[in-house]
Amino acid sequence: MPGYKLAIDGPAGSGKSTISSLIAKKLGWTHIDTGAMYRAVTLQAIELGINLNDEASYRFLETSKIHYDFDRIFINDRDVTEGIRSEGVTNNVSLVSSFPYVRKKLVDLQKMAAEYGNIVMDGRDIGTVVLPHADLKIFLTANVEERAKRRFKELTKKGKETHLSKVIEDILNRDQKDSTRKESPLRIADDAIVLDTTYLTIDEVVNKIIELTDKKEN
Ligand code: DC
Repeated sequence: MPGYKLAIDGPAGSGKSTISSLIAKKLGWTHIDTGAMYRAVTLQAIELGINLNDEASYRFLETSKIHYDFDRIFINDRDVTEGIRSEGVTNNVSLVSSFPYVRKKLVDLQKMAAEYGNIVMDGRDIGTVVLPHADLKIFLTANVEERAKRRFKELTKKGKETHLSKVIEDILNRDQKDSTRKESPLRIADDAIVLDTTYLTIDEVVNKIIELTDKKEN
């Protein structure tokens, strides 16, 4: 596998995507947000009106094309970067990502996408399943109040009306589903470095991870 592979995992709201995107920009590497891929499948499933509980209905993935262009994500060449952040998608993505068929399809795509070049990939199972031989594995954590506050800020900035207590409830709910599902649950890889970001700024986390990448390279 030529190139440096950096795996960043963590629970909802731990800042993975923002941090991974900034690291990729600073280093000139490619960023792959795997959560966005599960969200894209969820959006397509909702739009197609399939029974979300029926694993066999996800066969539509045999013919759909998901791809990235910088930080934008497309389904069958349609830009869905904003659409995948809707409440309908957020509420159903844990269910959709629990199906082995869906995971197999996306994990295959993710492995292929990471094959060449310097890659920062973020998600829930990158260090454990997708890139078990990554050069560096980071597991980001933060306490639930802090994660909820970050999500709340993001949502209100986008003009979405919500309450902090509702965001906390959603995050706890998603944590529970993501870490107890049978197929590749959220788990810290044995060789991952755990970084608690509760009291760190985004820049501090970005710089710390870049420092760790440098150390691993030398
Ligand atoms: O990172 P996010 O909140 O956008 O991810 C959305 C959902 O996708 C999350 O609740 C769990 C799932 N997911 C997953 O199961 N495996 C990944 N590698 C990434 C995300």
